[in-house]
Amino acid sequence: MTDPYPTNLRGYRLRFSLVALIAISSVCHAQSAVTAGDPALSAPAPTLTNCVSCHGVLGAGTATGAPRLAGKNPDYLAHALSMFKAGTRASVVMQSVAHALSDSEIGSLAVYFSAQNPPRVQGEHPPPPALVMAGKQLAELGAAPDVPACFSCHAVDGKGNGARYPSIAGEPAAFVINRLHEFQARAKAGTPSPGTMTAVAATLNERQIEEAAAYLSTIEP
Ligand code: HEC
Ligand code: HEC
Repeated sequence: MTDPYPTNLRGYRLRFSLVALIAISSVCHAQSAVTAGDPALSAPAPTLTNCVSCHGVLGAGTATGAPRLAGKNPDYLAHALSMFKAGTRASVVMQSVAHALSDSEIGSLAVYFSAQNPPRVQGEHPPPPALVMAGKQLAELGAAPDVPACFSCHAVDGKGNGARYPSIAGEPAAFVINRLHEFQARAKAGTPSPGTMTAVAATLNERQIEEAAAYLSTIEP
């Protein structure tokens, strides 16, 4: 497998374009008379540079498995970062990233990514149409005997609902698969509370995980 987190030339190019983007967006915001305290502009640049090498300049995620952050509810994002920081959400990579963040950095990074709206990332190999169709049915209707419709909690087209139910539209398939496996591992380790994602994941088989991941990755967020 290739290194999913390039720190090579591509990373430098991303960093460079980020600086340009921040400059452009500052100009636009200044023109639209946004106050100097606009939190979307105060995301600390060096920290942000670190994020974009994996999540993309505008937080679209990467096909190799870093999730989409763009457009997600800011409270959801801030909560996720706090959990990584506290070590209560698993991820070797993100725990070490979040460890170094202050609460105010967490707040401004959450607001920054929440306000972005890049197109979804597309893998080199689009998923097979049959898998996508099956995933659409699963997401909208669920499956017998006990898989609930994904959109019953994550809202129509997986756009998300408040701080509790994150947007899952346009999420890279590799991330969805990893994350559902992680929820399943947690379900095995203890009895999940009804209505949680851990409980939902426990109802899914491997084929359904692939179907859901394929479909979600094709929805334009
Ligand atoms: C080395 C790559 C890497 C870097 C750098 C990185 N991330 Fe992540 N991030 C990931 C991966 C991989 C995940 C998925 C973790 C999991 O399995 O839950 C993730 C997950 C997240 C999540 C959870 C999103 C969700 O929808 O559940 C947030 C929020 C996040 N990262 C924010 C950030 C921010 C902000 C920065 C910069 C300060 C950053 N990340 C830097 C790779 C990275
Ligand atoms: C009963 C409500 C409910 C249903 C139904 C549900 N989810 Fe979730 N889902 C949640 C909650 C709550 C979270 C947030 C979990 C957390 O933050 O720990 C979540 C999180 C997720 C995540 C992680 C997103 C991220 O950004 O980290 C994915 C992927 C996901 N759900 C996929 C699905 C799929 C696929 C289905 C359908 C098979 C589904 N969900 C059905 C409640 C639900």
